Amino acid sequence: MRHLISPLDFSVEETNEILDLADHIYRHPEQYSDICKGKKIATLFYEPSTRTRLSFEAAMLNLGGSVLGFSSAASSSVSKGETVADTIRIISSYADICAMRHPKEGAPLVASKYSGIPVINAGDGGHNHPTQTFTDIFTIKELKGNLSNMTIGFCGDLKFGRTVHSLINELVRYTGFKFILISPDELKLPDYVKNEVLDRNHCPYVETRSLEEALPGLDILYMTRVQKERFFNEEDYIRLRDTYVLDTKKLQYAKKDCLILHPLPRVNEIAPEVDDDPRAAYFTQAKLGVYVRMAIILRLLGLR
Ligand code: NCD
Repeated sequence: MRHLISPLDFSVEETNEILDLADHIYRHPEQYSDICKGKKIATLFYEPSTRTRLSFEAAMLNLGGSVLGFSSAASSSVSKGETVADTIRIISSYADICAMRHPKEGAPLVASKYSGIPVINAGDGGHNHPTQTFTDIFTIKELKGNLSNMTIGFCGDLKFGRTVHSLINELVRYTGFKFILISPDELKLPDYVKNEVLDRNHCPYVETRSLEEALPGLDILYMTRVQKERFFNEEDYIRLRDTYVLDTKKLQYAKKDCLILHPLPRVNEIAPEVDDDPRAAYFTQAKLGVYVRMAIILRLLGLR
């Protein structure tokens, strides 16, 4: 039985197969509409979510399966003190596959040890978010036509942003990516990602505080929200939350074909006026996430 806890759980070859499958589903959804008939996905969300949970549910419904689950810790037995290990043992007899989001790093990994069904990590604390990562690389591949030799700027909360950590882990496995890390000093990429991922793979990177200076050199700009829920005090959050605001004025300095991505939800970091710019790809990215999750469900259930 396979689980998806880190994006590295799939080899590059398998990852490319998943992207190809997602692409085929995207173009021929009718061919997949009852492939999961009789199968159920449980979505176990101990942390808030809109896109991730609903896109998992939409993915399973599109495949002809059904869904069950909970969308907050407060509404599940965790509020009575149940452990993740016990919860997953029970869910294993109710569903065929599950997606789990948890505020604690490593919780989905623990769950996978006790689970009788495939566990998909739908985001664990500030750690990993593999299905968002596959969504991100699928979007890059679909919109740029390839997945190599690009300069990508990560901007915002690089300290707590799990989508950033997860995507960097993935992109170092592809050829020719350069990384520009744009953040205030307090929200820099953690050393363990710099040393163990970027340095170890000999990937070039630059750290800067200036979005304006970085923008003209970027093929992709990956904006992120300052992760309020991971801050220890409100004052720091308020001081840092509006460090970067991408607006049409700044966007003038970006390349004509720069791809603007954001895992969403956004707060203030992208002005709504940017939404009409053809380079703004974040809503397309959210849409493509459903096809990626369909492909992942099929792969983990052994149906493709
Ligand atoms: C992200 C997450 O949960 O890490 N959202 C998502 O899954 N699309 C990013 C965020 O919450 O800022």
